[in-house]
Amino acid sequence: MNDQTSANLALSDPQADPASSLLADRGHACVVGLQFGDEGKGQVVDALTGHFDLVVRFNGGNNAGHSVRIGNQKFALHLIPSGVLNPRAINVIGNGVVIDPEGLVGEIDALRARGVAVGENLRISDRAHVVMPYHKLQDRLMELALGRLHGQTAQIGTTGRGIGPCYADKAQRTTAIRMHELVDERALRRRLDTAVEVKNVMLAALAGYVGEPFEPIDADALFEQYHELARRLAPHVCDTMELLASARLEGQRILFEGANAALLDIDHGTFPFVTSSNTTSLGIYPGAAVPGGTVSEVLGVVKCYTSRVGGGPSATQIDDELTADRLRQVGNEFGTTTGRPRRIGWLDLMAVRYAAKLNGCTGIVCTGLSVLAGLPRLKVGVGYRVDGRELRHFPADAGLLERIEPIYETVEGFEGPIDQCRRYEDLPQAARTYVEAIEGFTGVAVRAVCVGPGRDQIVPRPRASSAN
Ligand code: IMP
Repeated sequence: MNDQTSANLALSDPQADPASSLLADRGHACVVGLQFGDEGKGQVVDALTGHFDLVVRFNGGNNAGHSVRIGNQKFALHLIPSGVLNPRAINVIGNGVVIDPEGLVGEIDALRARGVAVGENLRISDRAHVVMPYHKLQDRLMELALGRLHGQTAQIGTTGRGIGPCYADKAQRTTAIRMHELVDERALRRRLDTAVEVKNVMLAALAGYVGEPFEPIDADALFEQYHELARRLAPHVCDTMELLASARLEGQRILFEGANAALLDIDHGTFPFVTSSNTTSLGIYPGAAVPGGTVSEVLGVVKCYTSRVGGGPSATQIDDELTADRLRQVGNEFGTTTGRPRRIGWLDLMAVRYAAKLNGCTGIVCTGLSVLAGLPRLKVGVGYRVDGRELRHFPADAGLLERIEPIYETVEGFEGPIDQCRRYEDLPQAARTYVEAIEGFTGVAVRAVCVGPGRDQIVPRPRASSAN
């Protein structure tokens, strides 16, 4: 990276460094989403990376899309941790991540073309699993099969990145390929031969079922293509457990970057309309291979309204298309990965409180507040009612969630624009009341409010006025 770009990307301006207000201690930290993804985690991670030596991804794959805006430059990262934009940080893709080699090489090349250094600062776990083209095909055919069986509402609405089938192969074991095998010519050949044999039988049957043409996969051609991609990735592949263990011993600070979000968690989300990994802080330990209790600071990112892309319930979805569309346009609510329009809802505090508890959040960062500016009244979901009965907790059953009648409180809106506000006290009183309701309901301190996507648009919440 040239010096100019490096200087642009470095956290040199203390005004643009909100980390002191975001972090309560000097331990290892994580940033996770508390809704359905797209809360703006990338901005928060980027703001924090200057205070950490390593930034680690522990779950998901290139289904995630983290947008980071620096000055007038916008970076969309999918697999590479957001720390790559900080010249000092080592970026680790942990064993719990599933890696699409073609996507990752493309991301590395795109970053380098824009002057961002990607070399020894990127380390990839030798135990991470590899997403192959047949996983993407399987993903697509499974969605078509579900649609054929039960109609569109049964479809998960996946990103089509092969994430679910890759994690399924991880559990299946014999058809899986890990990074250490990808970069070992003989192991790759052996593993591919088995996997392709099985996939050809399985995918032909699935394709036949949904009436799609199917060309059997050619193991030789796939081997040639992936052997070449492996050559590009090999210098980055290592034992990241050892790397992180040494870093901890040496007193280096680690930031764990969650992908997707709590309500998409495979175990705790709105199953089956979820992704295929543990997206909460609970996933850090198996997904990055660090001992339980490593992380002392869990920052949950909450967007001040709800968005969801793909299938599945969203209890507080806005029926009034005019309001929903306004928020979608102002908030640019279109998928970073797929470009799909997101479904828009009011803030759902039942879901946020559940997610904060699940993650063990120590602090909250609010995003998207400016999107709400100008609406005369705002609705906030504060409870769930089903069949005349009020639920005390977020339910396990997605079917039940579909039938929920949200209990709303209507609060006063506020006028914008607020994107120039740099001190919490400068925000309109109604906006502060709105943000503080999140703190009141979850019992977790709001540490900062983002009033726009820029590095300098993270407004710290003065400690004295926060809950803990
Ligand atoms: P998959 O992860 O591609 O299997 O998709 C499963 C579900 O999670 C779909 O509804 C996706 O739209 C959703 N999803 C996965 N990753 C993200 C994300 O980063 N943001 C928002 N939605 C996501």
